[in-house]
Amino acid sequence: MTSGDFKIGILVSGRGTNLQAIMDAIENGELNARIAVVLSNKKEAPALERARKKNIEAVTLNPKSYADKKEFDLALAKELEDRQIDLVCLAGYMRILGPEFIQKFKGKIINIHPSLLPAFPGLDVQQKAIDYGVKFSGCTVHFVNEEVDGGPIILQAVVPVHESDDAESLAQRILIQEHLIYPRAIQMIVENRLHIENRKVSYKESVS
Ligand code: GRF
Repeated sequence: MTSGDFKIGILVSGRGTNLQAIMDAIENGELNARIAVVLSNKKEAPALERARKKNIEAVTLNPKSYADKKEFDLALAKELEDRQIDLVCLAGYMRILGPEFIQKFKGKIINIHPSLLPAFPGLDVQQKAIDYGVKFSGCTVHFVNEEVDGGPIILQAVVPVHESDDAESLAQRILIQEHLIYPRAIQMIVENRLHIENRKVSYKESVS
């Protein structure tokens, strides 16, 4: 596969700093891929503007325009299939993908989550980490399967939790690491370096 032939579709709902990190990594040559489309379920998502600034196609699908969740997911899948994407990256996408969508792109969907999974899946996880009293938290890039935040782990990064932290300050510290490991994890997939057995991901030398 020649550099840039690897096509990514990115799903967003919000501000898009992870999208930005991925675009920056592509621009500075750390990630050999192309973003074929950015898809959002929210038309006001600032992530869309970030994409358009870089001349990347950015499309909103309004969930209210579809009969149900299944129809919405089908439309989403079609946008990705039409562009023959190789990988779906969730970057702050706030809807749970249905099982049909996950089956369709089996092994080709990844997500970034702001905790050290399997600790603290779900939402508001920085606050949950603080409330629990953990001394370290971090972020996880993982494959997406039917279990929310439960797929095989690709990369993680650890940050300390300080006594003075609130959810916002911890989120900021974690976010810095997210922006480093997400493009790195994608590049590992581009280079076909991941091997999954049971649910364990191991790294092999580049074979591409
Ligand atoms: C990040 O914290 C990510 O881990 C979580 O949602 C947030 C998205 O932030 N899944 P952004 O839209 O990439 O700035």
